Amino acid sequence: WIMQDMTFILFGATGDLAQRKLFPALYNLFLDGKMPVSISIVGLGRYYCSNEFFQSKVEKALRLYSRRAVQTSGLQDFLTKFRYFAFDATDRGSYLNLFELIKNRENELDIPENRLFYLSVAPKLVDVITSNLYANGISQTLGWKRIIVEKPFGSDLKSAQQLNDTLSKAFSEKEIYRIDHYLGKPMVQSFETLVLANPALEALLDHKQISNVQITASETVGVETRADYYDQAGALRDMVQNHLFQLVMMTALHLPGEVTTKENEIKKMEIIESLRPILKDKVYLDVVRGQYESGAILDTPVAGYKEEPGVNDSSMNDTYFAARLYIDNPSWNGIPIYIRTGKRMDKKSTRIVFELKNKVEESNVLQTEEITPNLLTFEISPNESISLRVNMKNPSSNRFYPVYMNHSTNSKDQPEAYELLLFDAMLGNKTFFAHWKEVELSWKWIQPILEAFQEDMLPLYPYPAGSTGPEAANQLLQSNQFNWW
Ligand code: BG6
Repeated sequence: WIMQDMTFILFGATGDLAQRKLFPALYNLFLDGKMPVSISIVGLGRYYCSNEFFQSKVEKALRLYSRRAVQTSGLQDFLTKFRYFAFDATDRGSYLNLFELIKNRENELDIPENRLFYLSVAPKLVDVITSNLYANGISQTLGWKRIIVEKPFGSDLKSAQQLNDTLSKAFSEKEIYRIDHYLGKPMVQSFETLVLANPALEALLDHKQISNVQITASETVGVETRADYYDQAGALRDMVQNHLFQLVMMTALHLPGEVTTKENEIKKMEIIESLRPILKDKVYLDVVRGQYESGAILDTPVAGYKEEPGVNDSSMNDTYFAARLYIDNPSWNGIPIYIRTGKRMDKKSTRIVFELKNKVEESNVLQTEEITPNLLTFEISPNESISLRVNMKNPSSNRFYPVYMNHSTNSKDQPEAYELLLFDAMLGNKTFFAHWKEVELSWKWIQPILEAFQEDMLPLYPYPAGSTGPEAANQLLQSNQFNWW
């Protein structure tokens, strides 16, 4: 992969994602010398503002959200790469003017026709934008073209297929980068190589040693200001279909060594194809859904979901989701994989825990001792760490107690997910983006659950804000003699 000069065209440049994530990501890449020598960045939004005003907004976003402090040296050089264009997605004239602007900047900066489009817009605009990019010649370049698409990628199987058909009219699969920021988290990106580089980890992660796997993505925030979207989506669409599924695939990969992007895609698809289907009328056996009630987060009282602004007071939306999955392939056969995610839980943490089989229990010598299972934990965010819990003997009491072998990294020193993913998209490396087949298969797998939710075929358990979720989720594990870690 070679970094080439390019134009970066950002639809939704006045939105929240651009301010919080994309501008800071570009800036940190710039500080690291990881940008193309020449790049023209065009930000598009609905309202008029001058280039200078837009550049000052970019600077403000960097000051608020960049992980590294803004440096005076080089700042002007960075900001002058940005141009703003007031844009109406439904007006043909807008596309013609945009095309002029892109070409003028390409001439001015001597940039070849390499164009990277980033759609950070409402899903309903994807169709009109991509078809107009094509119809007006903007996406027919002499160089390469790529398009990055933000989630949500559809709201069910059918709408995802329609969205994909739309994108495919103007871009080939090779050119479509479906972004899932969980795939950009440094620990997720290094997971496979860590295992490959460490025979000790590889030995532990053998299915013969593991009794179960638990993937948690808990959040303390509630619905915030996103009720319009979230009350339709729920945890299942917002977190499970994309982020948690990607974590399941990355956890189960077991690559034989370094592989190509294509081989990686095939492996991921094989995993998702081996996920044991959950039938609609059996969803209640393996899935728990919940909704938060009022409670307290760090001693601060917070409202229940139904009292949140914009939420329907009879809403049956899921703000918590837990499930037991099985991957029916030789590596994972019979090992339950539990996943859970929820808003307004006790803490913010995304982690994968491998619980090892407790062989010691079977030994006669130690039968009177309380031995806790060994746990290998990969904390993904907000902090990054790897820890191994082992049993240590206390010589005075002669009892075992758990100790931890720990390594953690300061997350401020780590690149953010969007930095890594934008860099890869600029290079043309699709390894950490979702292939259409992965997205389609995950929607297919989820579809019966969506329907069971819609038809109220299982209870919606309340849980107090600030808790670990509904009791029913504990029972899901207890029925296999496990507990959540
Ligand atoms: C987003 C969801 O994709 O991921 C949000 O739409 C959620 O609802 C967020 O809060 C969580 O991301 P992270 O990186 O904070 O775990």
